[in-house]
Amino acid sequence: MRKDRPSRTALKVALNIVTLDSKPGMEAILPAGIVDATRELLVASGAAGERTVKWAQSQTSVAIYEAFDWMLPGQFEAFAHRKAFCERQVREGIDDGATQILVLGAGYDTLGWRLAPEFSGMNFFEIDHPATAHLKARGIESMGRRKNLRLVAEDLGKRKLSDVLKTDKSWDLSAQTIIIAEGLVMYLSSEAVRDLFCQCAVVVGVDSRIAFSYIPTGADGRPDAGRWTGLMLWLQKVAGEPWEWSIRPEELGQFLEETGWTIAHEEVGEARKHGVEFYAVATK
Ligand SMILES: C[S@@+](CC[C@H](N)C(=O)[O-])C[C@H]1O[C@@H](n2cnc3c(N)ncnc32)[C@H](O)[C@@H]1O
Repeated sequence: MRKDRPSRTALKVALNIVTLDSKPGMEAILPAGIVDATRELLVASGAAGERTVKWAQSQTSVAIYEAFDWMLPGQFEAFAHRKAFCERQVREGIDDGATQILVLGAGYDTLGWRLAPEFSGMNFFEIDHPATAHLKARGIESMGRRKNLRLVAEDLGKRKLSDVLKTDKSWDLSAQTIIIAEGLVMYLSSEAVRDLFCQCAVVVGVDSRIAFSYIPTGADGRPDAGRWTGLMLWLQKVAGEPWEWSIRPEELGQFLEETGWTIAHEEVGEARKHGVEFYAVATK
């Protein structure tokens, strides 16, 4: 990705969430409070102006996103399912004893900010590239800081996750943790993804989980976005955030074993696919 400017894909996801609120039926899927918080964060951070956010809420925006579904069927609604999946993983993880939450490549995601007051005994952490993280921090500052939410600005391509967290006094290396990596791994090199999963496994305690989304590899070895894969890969590249990593779902279990994780089988398969992405969960 381009290192010198805030992530465009993070902004796109956030605006998509705002637009989904104007699509009938989506309120049943979107996590409670996510739309208001996202709207507020976009404006307060300066990531988007009020007019852009208002435009995102319009029926014209809904129609445009729906029109683009010819290229990536189901992708518009997929963001609502992805957010719901991640929030469910965090809530279930907390029910099962987790005390620490880490959101990698958080972008303008509001999960930490929304859930931190509800789970005041938990510690929430987010890491993102400085260009995006600094903008977000400005927004969070104006929306109201959470004492148990820590925003970390780091380029994980430059500094190892384990080095970042091992030097952070508030991070507990033995805590049962839920890690969320939503819409992140496709933007990293294959070496970086392997390394990231290995590092995630060494910075958390037993029974920790990692929940993530990924793009499947197609028959031609490229990330598979369906019929329009070539166009999609080109668009991502032109946007400065190319898709680099993908994996065949049937090879995911072995990849996870090699990096210190065990796949949760009930969390794989077609039922866990929305738009172009699969969702998966692994445990330590
Ligand atoms: C598609 S966005 C997803 C944002 C968020 N997870 C969501 O779904 O709303 C990808 C995010 O990964 C972050 N990212 C990409 N490469 C990164 C790196 N090397 N270090 C830290 N963050 C990175 C980007 O800044 C961006 O916020």
